[in-house]
Amino acid sequence: MSGFATEKVTEDIAKLKVGGSAPDSSSSTGAAAASATAAMSQVASMKNVNEVKQYIMQQQIAALQKKIKKKEGSETHKFWDTQPMAKKDAVISELVNEAIDKNTDPEQVRQTPYSMPAGFEWCEIDVHDEGELQEFYALLAANYVEDDGGEFRFDYSKEFLMWALTVPNYRKDWHVGVRSPAKDGKPGKLMASITAVPALLQVHGVQMSVVEINFLCVHKKLRDKRLSPMLIREITRRVNLTGRWQAVYTAGALLPGCKARCRYWHRTLQPEKLIEVKFSFLPMGKTMPQHVADLDLPKKPLHAFRSMLESDVSQVTALLNTYLRTLKMSQIFEEHEVSHVLLPRENVMNSYVVQGDDGVITDFASFYNLKSSILKSTKYSELLAVYSYYNVAGSMSYEELVTDLLILAKNQGVDVFNALDLMENQSVFGNLKFGRGDGALQYYVYNWNCAQLTPQEVGLVLV
Ligand SMILES: CC(C)(COP(=O)(O)OP(=O)(O)OC[C@H]1O[C@@H](n2cnc3c(N)ncnc32)[C@H](O)[C@@H]1OP(=O)(O)O)[C@@H](O)C(=O)NCCC(=O)NCCS
Repeated sequence: MSGFATEKVTEDIAKLKVGGSAPDSSSSTGAAAASATAAMSQVASMKNVNEVKQYIMQQQIAALQKKIKKKEGSETHKFWDTQPMAKKDAVISELVNEAIDKNTDPEQVRQTPYSMPAGFEWCEIDVHDEGELQEFYALLAANYVEDDGGEFRFDYSKEFLMWALTVPNYRKDWHVGVRSPAKDGKPGKLMASITAVPALLQVHGVQMSVVEINFLCVHKKLRDKRLSPMLIREITRRVNLTGRWQAVYTAGALLPGCKARCRYWHRTLQPEKLIEVKFSFLPMGKTMPQHVADLDLPKKPLHAFRSMLESDVSQVTALLNTYLRTLKMSQIFEEHEVSHVLLPRENVMNSYVVQGDDGVITDFASFYNLKSSILKSTKYSELLAVYSYYNVAGSMSYEELVTDLLILAKNQGVDVFNALDLMENQSVFGNLKFGRGDGALQYYVYNWNCAQLTPQEVGLVLV
């Protein structure tokens, strides 16, 4: 972890400088302008509309292929190959479960921030400052994760960001931003981010204090300039200085050291809207009324779920940890973390329990709210989605539990219920009419070597 090759860092900075005019200037490179001019003159020389249409289609296919290639990743990784991560095709024995870089001495860690290109600056994002929270929200709302077709983009609300980043023992210096050069006496714009929050992780029975990395985002005008490796190195340095040596993160991209490959599944709750915005399609041979009837749900939950209360925290923590410890990789919660993370919050977190007459909580179920912006519809601007979080079924089957979650979500006016195929989720997808999504999500543990896990062995959901 400590001591990255200096040449690599220098090379990454050099890349950021190339064409790295002030990032908020309109075009990031002269090359882009030149290729736009070439495309325009090619279109101008075409004889008819069909030729133009064909050209546009070819361009769209080429762009899609480029995106897919980026996701599947290349064979060599100029940055990741320098990091303490297993190589992409490495087969690791079940007996291996250990750190790759064994250093545990913070004094060996670089004490000063990595250099930035002239004018660019590291900053801390203070989520308790309304102006900074708004800036962070705006960076993500315009530049964070999109689907391959560019139809939808995550729209994390400010309440959600505040909740996700202020877990117990969070540190402001782990909410890292990059600002562009100051201009006309005004501070530079927030152009990139990466965050870490503390957590306890269990992998094959070994428990460790880690951080969860999230919100890696580079403004669209600064893409492909090797800013991400700089962000990752800097957050690693800051985390290492506090004596933490492992980090867990997920990515759509396939990178070295992948521990599990998961996939999103979707349960439609508002079929007409989802079809209209091209989130899903009408199944072959079905009419819309048939499809709507097919996906109908009871009006009320089948079991006596009620919203979780502060007084449930201790029982929920025990119930959840007992279940999570049965899995090969999982988060382990302390009570004050459950209190922050799992108690209901409007438009952020929904958590429910079933409590027997004897006061014992037997079941726990939860989902979080995360909207997406709909980028290409004239009728709708928001996709109201919720995501399955942590669930433990004690007095009912897992299928009954998820059915009730679907009903509770639908009653909130949600459009789609999403779930990863981890923990027990996969077992209910067929019967509950989930459709397989095209989004894969890889799980990584930085600086940890162990055998690959199946999705069902993973008990960790990163928001
Ligand atoms: C992901 C993102 C930050 C990458 O930035 P970029 O400008 O495309 O790439 P950069 O030139 O800065 O860096 C490239 C390096 O980052 C790595 N990288 C790309 N995406 C990554 C990810 N999600 N996690 C970790 N590393 C990633 C690449 O593999 C490459 O390293 P390599 O040469 O060793 O393979 C940027 O595309 C982005 O903001 N996308 C939208 C938000 C998003 O998808 N965030 C990630 C959520 S998991």
